[in-house]
Amino acid sequence: MISLEDKALEKAKAARENSYSPYSGFRVGAAVISGDDRIFAGTNIENRSYGLTICAERSAIFSAVSKGVRTLRHLVLITDSEKFITPCGACLQVLSEFASDMQIESCNKKGEKQRFSLKELLPKSFKLE
Ligand code: THU
Repeated sequence: MISLEDKALEKAKAARENSYSPYSGFRVGAAVISGDDRIFAGTNIENRSYGLTICAERSAIFSAVSKGVRTLRHLVLITDSEKFITPCGACLQVLSEFASDMQIESCNKKGEKQRFSLKELLPKSFKLE
């Protein structure tokens, strides 16, 4: 039986197909799994005013939150690169809003996986108090 994590990877791959990345040519697909086991995908969307670009991770998170999700437990990422990417600092901070810790799975173009935790990548997130 296919696991929810593998289904999320399939959704991330499909989202990568929709990547709008004419400036970098770097396609990223992401999918998050909510605390109640729903999957939400997103991709990177660039802009000719480069700073307005949104990462695939935040696209996926914002899609989930827009549907009422407030807790995340898993993120999967896929690119076209042989390397394993980890989310940028901004995306890690946004993830930390919806998870005290979570699994982050990064897949390269060969389908190989590396696993991280949010705590490991962002041990000290910004907190208001
Ligand atoms: N990007 C992501 O979507 N996620 C990351 O974790 C890092 C970078 C995107 C932003 C931009 O469209 C392209 O990758 C190159 O930086």
